Amino acid sequence: MDLKKISPYKHILESQQFDEEYINKVFELAEYMKENKHNVSNELKGKVVVLLFYQPSTRTRLSFETAANLLGAITEMTENAQEFSSAAKGETLQDTIRTVNAYADFIVMRHKDNDSSEIASTASEVPIVNAGSGTGQHPTQALLDLFTIYNKLKRTKNLTIALVGDLARGRTVNSLVYLASKFPGNKFYFVAPDNSRVKYGIKKHLDEHDVEYIETADMNEAMKNSDVVYMTRIQKEYFDDEEEYEKAKGKFKIGPKEMKLMKENTILMHPLPRVDEIDTAVDEDPRAIYFEQAQNGLYVRMALLKMLNDAN
Ligand code: NCD
Repeated sequence: MDLKKISPYKHILESQQFDEEYINKVFELAEYMKENKHNVSNELKGKVVVLLFYQPSTRTRLSFETAANLLGAITEMTENAQEFSSAAKGETLQDTIRTVNAYADFIVMRHKDNDSSEIASTASEVPIVNAGSGTGQHPTQALLDLFTIYNKLKRTKNLTIALVGDLARGRTVNSLVYLASKFPGNKFYFVAPDNSRVKYGIKKHLDEHDVEYIETADMNEAMKNSDVVYMTRIQKEYFDDEEEYEKAKGKFKIGPKEMKLMKENTILMHPLPRVDEIDTAVDEDPRAIYFEQAQNGLYVRMALLKMLNDAN
């Protein structure tokens, strides 16, 4: 494969920015990285990737760090940046980003504010990668989600995707809907507790692009009729009211009984971490692919770092 310059993108901020050509290149390169992950250590040699994480993370942080290291980059990390960086002293995000620019070739950032990566990008000469911005977006997760779907179902169009759980606050849901709705024939089921229904902005976007969707409280019906069931946890950290959280939690759960409703070739996904929404008894079902999904995060993030490096 020719690993030449393939991307004009400077920052990765939101799913809407990706076009089909870019997505296909990410998939092609991710596939390449999967096969060659121990053979690409010259790609980002000597480059510095700073991981600025203001919110907890396991998969996103470790997969980005591993991706950067496998490509030969040096990684520096501020975990819990809200407490351990100068943010705790009242420094603005812009000032932090300007400072980090002095050391970094890339900044991968997770932050509680929805507009954080946009703000960071205006203060940054080096690429900003949004690794989760509040209840807004998580675009690299959407790419690895769609890559996983493509790997399993061999298509990115004519899919019925059921999104279940906290659709009001789950940023992975937003990013996946924006991404998957770019492809013809994709339809969505939105299944959420009453206090966690899909955002108006998402529905407006789908209406404007003539994309079909059904909002329902009937998870079973959605499971029967979908090619992808995408489960999410209730995002406890964004609830002010414990009682409201308790109302939403545990409303939709998938166990062996629910799995019987799904077609043989339907896949069950989850961005993880799970709380109690998928019974561990389901894990051995070949249709449950969330750990493979998490693994794909490594290859997709290797591809993205490589593409950003070539473009900048
Ligand atoms: C998600 C996130 O941080 O938005 N996790 C992840 O990156 N895989 C999902 C979640 O926290 O529920």
